Amino acid sequence: MIDSKGPVSGPVLGIESSCDETGIAVYQPGRGLLAHALYSQIALHAEYGGVVPELASRDHVRKLLPLLRQTLAEGGLKVSDLSAVAYTAGPGLIGALLVGAAVARSLAWALELPAIGVHHMEGHLLAPLLEDPAPDSEPLAPPFVALLVSGGHSMLVGVDKIGSYTILGDTLDDAAGEAFDKTAKLMGLPYPGGPALAKLAERGDPRAFKFSRPMTDRPGLDFSFSGLKTQVLLAWRDSDHAEHTKADIARGFEEAIVETLAIKCRRALVQTGYTRLVVSGGVGANKRLRAQLAEAGQREGFRTYFPRLAFCTDNGAMIALAGSIRLAAGQTSGPEIRVLPRWNLESLPEVA
Ligand code: KG4
Ligand code: ZN
Repeated sequence: MIDSKGPVSGPVLGIESSCDETGIAVYQPGRGLLAHALYSQIALHAEYGGVVPELASRDHVRKLLPLLRQTLAEGGLKVSDLSAVAYTAGPGLIGALLVGAAVARSLAWALELPAIGVHHMEGHLLAPLLEDPAPDSEPLAPPFVALLVSGGHSMLVGVDKIGSYTILGDTLDDAAGEAFDKTAKLMGLPYPGGPALAKLAERGDPRAFKFSRPMTDRPGLDFSFSGLKTQVLLAWRDSDHAEHTKADIARGFEEAIVETLAIKCRRALVQTGYTRLVVSGGVGANKRLRAQLAEAGQREGFRTYFPRLAFCTDNGAMIALAGSIRLAAGQTSGPEIRVLPRWNLESLPEVA
């Protein structure tokens, strides 16, 4: 996906279209984020209770160019100001990815600019670099452990250098976000379930329902959340279905996921000897997860790095940033429109 060419470092356009959000942003090394905008397809898919891939592709076709024009206008930029075009080349829905890749490659060809096919999970993993470091904190730099928790992935990644990734733990079945979404659905909450369930859980009693912390009773860093979903199903089926019981079950479920993720993060830090933890991906927007890991970090001496909430879920800013890092290393993609619906993060080249 990536070959070598000379480094360039003007504004880089980022296009994200791997699933149900169209994200556009412009990032420039040294200057930061110049513009960003997001269009979410949630309303389109809500009536089906999940993402319908063909509808997602068609909506990206409809929204991508108007959003691109809007983003450039808001940033006071013209296409001629751009130095490169980065786009999500995978993993994701093939049709949705192809829309972003086709627009990105065509623009790059017309403007005679380099294009960079970005790995979506590398985008999530580097997203905390979009934030200015807190005054009392060290800026984020490898080595670190990244917990990437989204609708499609639950991964612990060892980041030795940028581009040099080792998957320390992966999901054996449902990803964390998928578990949130499916559990929310079985309790009748609207799509996408994660944020709705988290909101409901705020009113719940954490002691009312105690669900298991899957796979924490044995060594290893893999995750499995499908059994937890079944426990919730049984608890919900046998309950009085009252609103407060629903909130208690939601809270019990959220506690179980958050504690399981926190236990595995600590284990990954011990195993690698690293002292920095990045948390990103849609579930990284979960307030209890952020609070619990930040507290554990203070207590146990590791630093935590989170993107702002809007950059935990899918967005164009993380793609523009990851693209600009690859570009600075001279790594750009060939002229063909090629996407990789499945793409192993470990296969990426190291950034020199
Ligand atoms: O990274 P993302 O936007 O898309 C994928 O690449 O999958 O993640 C979306 C996932 C969904 O499963 C959504 O329910 C979940 O992130 N999510 C949350 C929260 N916000 C989004 N899960 C729990 N708590 C939240 N606050
Ligand atoms: Zn994502």
